[in-house]
Amino acid sequence: MMLNRIILKQLSMVGKHLLFVCLGNICRSPSAEAVMNGKLKAIGWEQRILCDSAGIIGFHAGEPADARMQKHALKRGYALTSLSRQVKQDSDFDRFDMIIGMDDQNIKDLKALARSEDDRRKIFRMTDFSTQKIYKHVPDPYYSGNDGFELVLDLLEDACDGLMEHLKGESQSEFVNERI
Ligand code: 4NP
Repeated sequence: MMLNRIILKQLSMVGKHLLFVCLGNICRSPSAEAVMNGKLKAIGWEQRILCDSAGIIGFHAGEPADARMQKHALKRGYALTSLSRQVKQDSDFDRFDMIIGMDDQNIKDLKALARSEDDRRKIFRMTDFSTQKIYKHVPDPYYSGNDGFELVLDLLEDACDGLMEHLKGESQSEFVNERI
């Protein structure tokens, strides 16, 4: 009986929705989305945790990721396929469980869009999940050289590892609560 309840709970678990946010949604956040999707797929969680990305500004809306970012990401096996879009205040705060910004200004802008304390609680900083606390933010690579794009990917791979651990921990505590 208990086992049935546990299995049913696992099957019915509606996944979490994660939104990665940067300024233009052509460099950092589409990369975060792709890196995270890769890590989720590696453990079979790609249907359980759904990822998307968006930009604070809509200047690049409809465009694919920056060609330099795509090139660096592809070298590590990440295909950046999403098209840029702007954050949508109402639907994004309603749809997503975690809204994860890349730098201080992203966090500030997201907080300004939050409509309530519940919305504000959904906002996180990508580097909060870093396992190697070297950078407090993921720096904008737009005006950088190759090193800037590589740094973005290094920081994102590390922070996505930490985010995976966070999600596994949450999943474990839901599982334990269900058994109690
Ligand atoms: P992202 O990088 O926020 O990581 O996508 C940028 C892309 C475009 C611009 C700034 C940052 N821009 O000013 O157009």
